Amino acid sequence: MARIVAGVACSHVPAIGVAMDKGTTGTAYWQPLFQGYEPARRWLAELAPDVAIVVYNDHASAFSLEIIPTFLIGVADRYPIADEGFGPRPVPAVIGHPGLAWHIAESLILDEFDMTIANAMPVDHGLTVPLSVTCGQPAAWPFPVIPLCVNVVQYPPPTGARCFKLGEAIARAVASFDEDLRVVIYGTGGMSHQLQGERAGLINRQFDLAFLDGMTRDPLALTQITHTEYMREAGSEAVELVMWHVMRGALGGEVAEVYRHYHVPASNTAAGLLILENRGAV
Ligand SMILES: [Fe+2]
Repeated sequence: MARIVAGVACSHVPAIGVAMDKGTTGTAYWQPLFQGYEPARRWLAELAPDVAIVVYNDHASAFSLEIIPTFLIGVADRYPIADEGFGPRPVPAVIGHPGLAWHIAESLILDEFDMTIANAMPVDHGLTVPLSVTCGQPAAWPFPVIPLCVNVVQYPPPTGARCFKLGEAIARAVASFDEDLRVVIYGTGGMSHQLQGERAGLINRQFDLAFLDGMTRDPLALTQITHTEYMREAGSEAVELVMWHVMRGALGGEVAEVYRHYHVPASNTAAGLLILENRGAV
């Protein structure tokens, strides 16, 4: 039986990927951020999961505003790296896990989550930056990845509560897969930031830290945060945090926080990293 053994929440700031790709992570600006990633990389290398499900949003790379899937799952063998305007990031292509992905797609749809299915798509920084943050710069990613996209680009995104329920359904799907796989699930995006308008540059450290605490202690309360509240308290792009609820819903009730890192600024964003182990899966 497959099981979800841990969850990783991770901001997916494009500039973090650029700093790694250009070799500037040791500068005074970036060093404090990247230093905080080292324990997470050691933890993940030791965990050595068999598969990762990465919940992220596409930033008009694979899909334009002509087609906006609310929830999408990738079932391909392989995902090329998207060209986001400066050429594809120089990172390995992402290898998929079609067997588990199709099983999850079937299970979710029969469980009344109407997923869009992607047989082919490029993946952008939303997926590759969290992999870079937690895996460093390997010649090949250390595990296959199932991409799971959530729309947070075009109003209306799904609610945090709906995302949490999707996570619970993903856990049921994984648990019914007849192969002994240890799965890690990523929830990406956030934390507080706003990229445009009069409040561009907004950071709300208090909101972010309370959100990190709540992920472990009272995730259901966090699912009640409305889109308006995310935007008002933590900036328009903080609504990406709904994707963390997918990860948290997939872990179940018994979790232990094993690591966190919070740093401002990373580009114009507050960067958060949180690792939770699923004690119910041990
Ligand atoms: Fe994003």
